Amino acid sequence: MNATDATPARTAAVAATIGRIRAIEREQGVTRAALDAIKTEMMRLAAQEHLFPSAAYPPPPGGEKGANRYLLQEDKDNRFALYLNALNPGNETKPHDHTTWAVVVAVEGQELNKVYRRTDDGADPDTCGLVVDHEIMVEPGRGIALMPEDIHSIHTTGDTPTRHLHMYGLALEVLDGRRGFDPETGKVVLYNKNFMAPLATPRA
Ligand SMILES: [Fe+2]
Repeated sequence: MNATDATPARTAAVAATIGRIRAIEREQGVTRAALDAIKTEMMRLAAQEHLFPSAAYPPPPGGEKGANRYLLQEDKDNRFALYLNALNPGNETKPHDHTTWAVVVAVEGQELNKVYRRTDDGADPDTCGLVVDHEIMVEPGRGIALMPEDIHSIHTTGDTPTRHLHMYGLALEVLDGRRGFDPETGKVVLYNKNFMAPLATPRA
């Protein structure tokens, strides 16, 4: 099967999955239990590797840093945005929040997620105290769900490029209140468009 052949099946599978995800959120709201149910739907989608071939969704060429971020589907009002992120090994982000819920699952490759706990009361908008609370290796068969206020960083540590599905309650392009956190200096910074690579176009 070449990449083009997968397109109609991928479009249908993505639309059906997001339809079920919309229903979960509508019925349960945004809770950790709801996000776990959404993660289960996402894992079923990601397990169909043939729908997301590396030929159609390559990482940046030549082992470059940064992500190729492909938009798979988004509602007209920017809700329920699903992206495929393709990264080379050796990438990492600073700790950040999303201000909307997020679920990340793997088609291929490993991405270490560090999830942080604030040690301050959050009263000072410019300063933070952070410690790593736990780590989750996102890889085929294991995903992560994050509430809007959760703080994580990602680290692509394996030997192979990653192709991961990232689903957000609201599209990244319209979020303007996200924060990045520097655990060394305790500085809080804005973490919005300037941290995101432009959207890439599938090769299919
Ligand atoms: Fe993130």
